[in-house]
Amino acid sequence: MPFVNELEAFLKRTPIDKSLIKAVHPNDFSAIIKETDPAGADVVDHTQDLNAHPRSINNKVEHYRSAISGSSPMVRTTPTSLFGVSAKATYSLPRADKMQSPYKVLVKPYHEKLHERAKFWQKHPIQGWAEMTNQSLWHAAGIGHMHQQVHVSEHDMGPGFEKHPAIVVHMDPRAQAVQEMPGDPNAFSNDMMHDIPKIAIMDFLTNNMDRHRQNLLYLPQDARDEEGFPVRSRLLAIDHGRNFQYHASHKGAPKFINDPLIGDIPLPTEEQDKINQEGKNKDNLIHYFDSDALRTIEHSSRFEGNPPFVSPRIIIPAIARWWPNVRRQVIAAMDSRLRGLRESQMSEHIRKNFIERVNLLDKIAARPEWYLTQAEYKDLNVPLHVWDR
Ligand SMILES: Nc1ncnc2c1ncn2[C@@H]1O[C@H](COP(=O)(O)OP(=O)(O)OP(=O)(O)O)[C@@H](O)[C@H]1O
Ligand SMILES: [Mg+2]
Repeated sequence: MPFVNELEAFLKRTPIDKSLIKAVHPNDFSAIIKETDPAGADVVDHTQDLNAHPRSINNKVEHYRSAISGSSPMVRTTPTSLFGVSAKATYSLPRADKMQSPYKVLVKPYHEKLHERAKFWQKHPIQGWAEMTNQSLWHAAGIGHMHQQVHVSEHDMGPGFEKHPAIVVHMDPRAQAVQEMPGDPNAFSNDMMHDIPKIAIMDFLTNNMDRHRQNLLYLPQDARDEEGFPVRSRLLAIDHGRNFQYHASHKGAPKFINDPLIGDIPLPTEEQDKINQEGKNKDNLIHYFDSDALRTIEHSSRFEGNPPFVSPRIIIPAIARWWPNVRRQVIAAMDSRLRGLRESQMSEHIRKNFIERVNLLDKIAARPEWYLTQAEYKDLNVPLHVWDR
């Protein structure tokens, strides 16, 4: 792995500089504290999330926690310009037992402030809860291997913030954004066609408005899992902190403008609000099969002769074959996650919108035949219940 080699070479040639290699320091997190919403703790109790990650990543969580408490060296690295606007710190962790390599973690605020550029759909400071809920739902649906590995840890972030929570993303060193796919001849493979509708269905359920081409990653064709077997999926979904808002639909979502450094960014809030009026009362399933990330993959998939992802012959069989097998577990996982919200109005808002989406998927799965008339296709909508606190 080039990154591993780089790190090892760096450690060899550089006399150990104590200021660089150390346990985390409260100052590392000043940007995270600045971006923390003080109202966050009234809405969500983070302590329930300290153990909400899947058991399968326990060893990585333990490894991280012992490293931040100072038992092994870490290298603080500077986020590159590729990263979005939110505050974050990145570290390289040393190799641990059974791990393929030293790897990087990305530390993000748990109670993140709402950002200007996302305000048209993000109204509630539930970022950490949302990321952990998303992970839990994907695991319940049997597709946890396609979700990034993420946990919550407490850190000493300075006076008054001695046990402050943050989301810790265990970055997959092999992954790159599907943004790179169109120029990469080995990027697409037909087995991805099984995974793509599942991503869209979960994005629909969770109201993921943020599935742009940098928030879906892919792995190389020869990627192996930790036991040395070919990976079960070459797609990896990341960055779900803005899910579960249920305040906007894709229909009303603004057009993005492209910034050469940051990538796609939405129009200013006032313009978004205007556009958003149109999609205020309902959301549409098809739009989640037509997210920016999936459109980017589709560009490569069409050369293989696959139908468009938005066609009924992709969408309807995928729902009918898969959803009935996983719905019970997904609903149970959601029920349990909703109990972790402190405000009952907030959990009711989320529950109501979530159930609308479950009902639509149930209705599609129960259809006797997979053919849709044009009118039926256009009508794959759910009401959007908007709650303004
Ligand atoms: N699990 C992961 N594996 C590999 N790379 C990752 C992973 N998570 C994030 N990255 C890389 O880090 C970048 C930034 O991460 P992320 O998308 O979580 O934050 P962001 O888009 O900057 O956040 P925000 O949208 O909250 O401002 C990603 O675009 C990707 O390149
Ligand atoms: Mg992102």
